Amino acid sequence: MSAPYHPVQTNEKASTSDLDLESDDMNATTPPRPRYSTRRLLEIALFFLSLLINAYLLGYRSTPVTVSPPPNDHSNELSLSVDPGRLEPLYSPANVALKDEYRVFTKLGVKTPYNTPYDDETDKLWEDMYSMGIQKIDKHEAALLPNWTEPIEGDDEHYVVILHVFHQLHCLNYLRKALMPERYPNITRFGPPIPPDPTPFDHTDHCINTIRESLLCNPDITPDVYQWKEERQSIYLHLDTLHVCKSWDALTDWAKERQVLETWDAKGRKVHDHDAHLRL
Ligand SMILES: *[C@@H]1O[C@H](CO)[C@@H](O)[C@H](O)[C@H]1NC(C)=O
Ligand SMILES: *[C@@H]1O[C@H](CO)[C@@H](O)[C@H](O)[C@H]1NC(C)=O
Repeated sequence: MSAPYHPVQTNEKASTSDLDLESDDMNATTPPRPRYSTRRLLEIALFFLSLLINAYLLGYRSTPVTVSPPPNDHSNELSLSVDPGRLEPLYSPANVALKDEYRVFTKLGVKTPYNTPYDDETDKLWEDMYSMGIQKIDKHEAALLPNWTEPIEGDDEHYVVILHVFHQLHCLNYLRKALMPERYPNITRFGPPIPPDPTPFDHTDHCINTIRESLLCNPDITPDVYQWKEERQSIYLHLDTLHVCKSWDALTDWAKERQVLETWDAKGRKVHDHDAHLRL
């Protein structure tokens, strides 16, 4: 009989079409109209076919469901959650001392105790900002630094660093004094050359550059605003805007706790000797 061949053909068709088109599975399940009498083979064939189809459908269903959220999509999740413009922050032992706080900057035209006229009190305020100088950190903290640093002589458990901000403040104070040689006559602008530059070291020039680098490194993107000022009958720049700042107290508390109280001797290294010069 030729009849048994027909369903076999439709079955074959169904199975192949199923592999090609997932939505065609309806065709695969509806066609079974077994009205031939040599049915044993046909029923068995259909049974196996439906098993195959079900297995295939189950497999097909389950793969996309599991693929999209959990296993393969980890890369997608990561690429969505990591801002492409950001790098992993570098380790600083003082990361723990960073605390955000709001601060309103000084209004244009208003003087602070750090402004002129300079006197001994003003000088002290400036020096107090960075007098905690060089800090000592634990060996395990030093091991996490992206750049290596020296241990304290005779104390292999502690290493020396200076938070960059203290060097910046030292430089800003240096510039402040350099502007007023009549009050600060011993501010010497030039020092011995620091290789590779063969010319006398220009402290002022160095300080301007180091502050420039920091400003460009961490730009303060707080928008200052322009507001109409009645008494001047003019639009006026306002620097007294709200900023998110790091708590200075929290940071200096951290630094004071770790301040190197012994005199720092840059020549004190016994093992090998190269350019360890930390100066405030
Ligand atoms: C600090 O590390 C950076 C990156 O590896 C390197 O370019 C730089 O020269 C290092 N500086 C010092 C003083 O180790
Ligand atoms: C400069 O003079 C001041 C006192 O006017 C003194 O405290 C300071 O140590 C002097 N600095 C240097 C580098 O000699």
